[in-house]
Amino acid sequence: MPACKMPPDDRHPMPQADAERGRLAMNGAGCGSCHSAPGVWPEGEVGPSLDSFAQQTLIAGRLPNRADILADYVRNAPKYVPQSGMPAMPLTEEEARDVAAYLYTLGRR
Ligand code: HEC
Repeated sequence: MPACKMPPDDRHPMPQADAERGRLAMNGAGCGSCHSAPGVWPEGEVGPSLDSFAQQTLIAGRLPNRADILADYVRNAPKYVPQSGMPAMPLTEEEARDVAAYLYTLGRR
């Protein structure tokens, strides 16, 4: 199997993270006002759909899709992509890891 076929979370496991807590944190933070993702409401269209995020190679088209980078990106996107429409979000570090774990469950069915 070529290495590029491996899903991102298998390369960067986060044993302490919990995908279901991440989904709840996304609802709490209001990610759904801009994004669509299963189990997250409403289903905003301002930002890209996250429905098959686990299959993406890149975050925001330019960052490697790695768990550590994703967990920081979802809290502080402007640090990585200053001109982006993705705002900094009020998540704790732990919630951000949970959100990353949830995003890596998307799109592998
Ligand atoms: C105000 C609207 C808005 C909110 C709220 C928002 N985002 Fe975003 N998000 C965006 C936009 C716009 C982009 C595209 C950024 C880019 O491509 O530079 C984006 C990009 C992303 C990406 C990268 C998507 C990809 O296809 O590479 C992820 C992951 C993401 N957001 C997760 C979240 C999470 C998790 C939350 C809640 C904690 C959230 N977003 C809240 C607007 C938003």
